[in-house]
Amino acid sequence: MKGGFYGLKVAQVSLILIGFVCLAVLMLAWTKTTLLTSLDPPESDLSYLTPEIPFSIREAAGTKDVSQNTSSLRVDEKDFVSPLSSKDLEFSAIQSSAEDEHHQYVNSTQRQDCNFGKGRWVIDDARPLYSGLGCKQWLSSMWACRMTQRTDFEYEKLRWRPKDCDMEDFTGPKFLTRMVNKTLAFVGDSLGRQQFQSMMCMITGGEERPDVLDVGKEYGLVKARGATRPDGWAYRFPSTNTTVLYYWSASLCDLEPLNVSNPATDFAMHLDRPPAFLKRFIHKFDVLVLNTGHHWNRGKLKANRWVMHVGGVPNTNRKIAEIAGAKNFTVYSIVGWVNSQLPRYPGLRAFYRSISPRHFFNGDWNTGGTCDNTTPLSAGMEVVEDESIDPVAAGPVKGTGVKLLDITALSQLRDEGHISRYSIKATPGVQDCLHWCLPGVPDTWNEILFAQI
Ligand SMILES: *[C@@H]1O[C@H](CO)[C@@H](O)[C@H](O)[C@H]1NC(C)=O
Ligand SMILES: *[C@@H]1O[C@H](CO)[C@@H](O)[C@H](O)[C@H]1NC(C)=O
Ligand SMILES: *[C@@H]1O[C@H](CO)[C@@H](O)[C@H](O)[C@H]1NC(C)=O
Ligand SMILES: *[C@@H]1O[C@H](CO)[C@@H](O)[C@H](O)[C@H]1NC(C)=O
Ligand SMILES: *[C@@H]1O[C@H](CO)[C@@H](O)[C@H](O)[C@H]1NC(C)=O
Ligand SMILES: *[C@@H]1O[C@H](CO)[C@@H](O)[C@H](O)[C@H]1NC(C)=O
Repeated sequence: MKGGFYGLKVAQVSLILIGFVCLAVLMLAWTKTTLLTSLDPPESDLSYLTPEIPFSIREAAGTKDVSQNTSSLRVDEKDFVSPLSSKDLEFSAIQSSAEDEHHQYVNSTQRQDCNFGKGRWVIDDARPLYSGLGCKQWLSSMWACRMTQRTDFEYEKLRWRPKDCDMEDFTGPKFLTRMVNKTLAFVGDSLGRQQFQSMMCMITGGEERPDVLDVGKEYGLVKARGATRPDGWAYRFPSTNTTVLYYWSASLCDLEPLNVSNPATDFAMHLDRPPAFLKRFIHKFDVLVLNTGHHWNRGKLKANRWVMHVGGVPNTNRKIAEIAGAKNFTVYSIVGWVNSQLPRYPGLRAFYRSISPRHFFNGDWNTGGTCDNTTPLSAGMEVVEDESIDPVAAGPVKGTGVKLLDITALSQLRDEGHISRYSIKATPGVQDCLHWCLPGVPDTWNEILFAQI
């Protein structure tokens, strides 16, 4: 009797001690990463990197260095001392008591208006939503970390729990039922492509689906002669007549060759015009998700031979000539244009996705920067701010019918979720701390999207 009672106390004491040790370790790791992490340096798109692309850290993006505001990474101490089962111990630091917490009833109006970007990551052993060993039909092998040398997969076991909103669990059948006769279009850069692949895997649960039709042709998404890939992909689920597509537009503006008969022509980058693809097909879309960000640097513009144009002529506005000014101007333009189309297409739900953060520590992509951490949420688990930490996304959508898909702060907490050193064509010393492992963080972006459509 007494021994049992005593034994119980020992168990409790050791749990509390373990809690404190974890807390100490986390606080250390947190202090370290907080100092090193920054949101902003220019973005390189490693999947399209070629060595000859000149790239300068300083001139890119141009936005100010947003050092991590520690208040957004507040670690909730009660999570460290709550009793844990031994199974949870390796994850003790982030095990959450959130299941029963703040779980208020919210109706659908509130659901759509609530801030899904605020909340916390919790462990969920039911994750991931599909296997990274499957989904070969849609998942690029370069992003399937299960197919690489990587051996830690804790990053697959996290689920985002918004603080004040009900987020319905995503299932493929629910998605398709909601999307009968409808089309979801992702338009953006390679991070948009990741979100697209993630969505295809989530809908199918990673299972092979011979019934799904490739309808790229309907959207002109066919591989041009000599091209390495088409400009996008479109697939249709015949059972519900649901189409999901992705169109590659890194800059979200219209690109026009200046001399069509010259293979090495420059391109007018019409900052104030929507991509021709979007203009042509927007009437077919029911849900539209836009993103840009990682191509706004001088190196990329130069390598792509993109020349900024405004009003159909080369830009002369000095404010816009700065990369940050050009990006801001373009995001305002595209969001403004989509907003202007909404009265014509009242069924259209349009989203602008905020920037996906990079996590190069101790350098940039080409100067030995790394993202080696394998412990989830070393830098905190919670986002407490109401405001988006991506003002370039939040500003333009304000007052429009275009919604912000705000994934920046929550993704900022996930430095362990990148491809890291495990790229398939690994170059020593080069890590991909920009793209994410799939399954992984972009799945969450899609859950938040699903909650709002
Ligand atoms: C961090 O955010 C809080 C709340 O938004 C603000 O009061 C504080 O000044 C910020 N700190 C820094 C260093 O930006
Ligand atoms: C949802 O809640 C909001 C705020 O409480 C309320 O104004 C609205 O009428 C509710 N909508 C429905 C459909 O119940
Ligand atoms: C599929 O949906 C589109 C509208 O998105 C509609 O025009 C078309 O007729 C539908 N096709 C079938 C076979 O139901
Ligand atoms: C889908 O489209 C088909 C063909 O246009 C139509 O018969 C059917 O009623 C539509 N279903 C829904 C749920 O709108
Ligand atoms: C367009 O490119 C072709 C082939 O390089 C060249 O012959 C022609 O002069 C160019 N036209 C203009 C207007 O620059
Ligand atoms: C971004 O563009 C908008 C609209 O053109 C302008 O009002 C705003 O001042 C710009 N912001 C920055 C930081 O350049």
